[in-house]
Amino acid sequence: MSDKTFDVVVVGSCMTDLVSQAPRLPKAGETIRGHKFFIGFGGKGANQCIQAARLGVKTAMICKVGKDFFGDNYIQNFKDNDVHTDFVWQTSDAATGAASITVNDAGENAIVIVAGANMRLGEEELQQALTAIRKAKVLVCQLEISSQTSLRALQMAHDNKVRTIFNPAPAVPDLDFGFYRVSDVFCCNESEAELLTGYSVNNVEDAHHAAQELLRRGCTAVIITLGPQGCVVLKAQDKTSTHVPSTAVKAVDTTGAGDSFIGALAFYLAHHPDMPLEEMARRANQVAAVSVQAVGTQTSFPFKRDLPADLF
Ligand SMILES: Nc1ncnc2c1ncn2[C@@H]1O[C@H](COP(=O)(O)OP(=O)(O)O)[C@@H](O)[C@H]1O
Ligand SMILES: *[C@@H]1O[C@H](CO)[C@@H](O)[C@H](O)[C@H]1NC(C)=O
Repeated sequence: MSDKTFDVVVVGSCMTDLVSQAPRLPKAGETIRGHKFFIGFGGKGANQCIQAARLGVKTAMICKVGKDFFGDNYIQNFKDNDVHTDFVWQTSDAATGAASITVNDAGENAIVIVAGANMRLGEEELQQALTAIRKAKVLVCQLEISSQTSLRALQMAHDNKVRTIFNPAPAVPDLDFGFYRVSDVFCCNESEAELLTGYSVNNVEDAHHAAQELLRRGCTAVIITLGPQGCVVLKAQDKTSTHVPSTAVKAVDTTGAGDSFIGALAFYLAHHPDMPLEEMARRANQVAAVSVQAVGTQTSFPFKRDLPADLF
């Protein structure tokens, strides 16, 4: 067992992205011509972990990939980004997760995900990584792995007073209420907030209402991200939520913007634990705004050296 300690530990997914750029998204049954294809590294868990690592904290990833070419490549990608890989397992029972992504000229996307090896991460692996989870400053989870595994990881962290960020993505309408009780920061986007609460969430005002409902379910704080509008932050100790606007930028590709935001949030929570959550959100908006100005997912995530010093 490793005795190393980490600032940010992510329990989540790894996906190989197969990305096509086309003038528009195809309709059902339609074949259209794209103008560019590339293979990239994705998966919400890995994305968030790599964004945190690029900002300069010690990170470890707890995940499972296939014993295949994409899995080997992914482990190298973690190493290249200074992410600790002792808890990246390889299985011959399933392929490395894959996502087929189409991006149109407006920067919108359509995605098909095959989770594969991600669904094989379970209790056994969490037990093997228990020391790293217990000693982490921040633990981050999403829903691209088995939801049982996510919930267990959050519970293990919560029981050990490790601050938790839960990103309920992709959202499910009947999310186990246990998730709320173990989330220090419950962070989702508009469509996820809508699915979880049943409210329609189309603007800042709607987001304030949805945040109140999510908070009532037992988390310590809620953040709803709003694309170019930034986000709304609501803490249990406050009565009202705060809109934290983003700066206007020209978006080229918003794939992974939410992951850049959450990775940055994990960084601030670990690096500046006493900073007000609104200020962390303001800075995470700025990090994510940089990511939408370049194509790709991880390829668009900024490093510390790319960002103004006052963000650190
Ligand atoms: N067009 C944009 N301009 C500036 N910031 C953006 C833009 N789109 C996204 N962001 C930033 O990325 C964050 C996450 O984006 P959002 O679209 O809400 O998430 P998701 O990627 O889950 O759809 C936002 O809170 C914001 O900080
Ligand atoms: C929210 O994130 C999901 C992925 O979990 C994505 O499919 C959806 O388009 C996003 N919604 C918005 C409004 O950005």
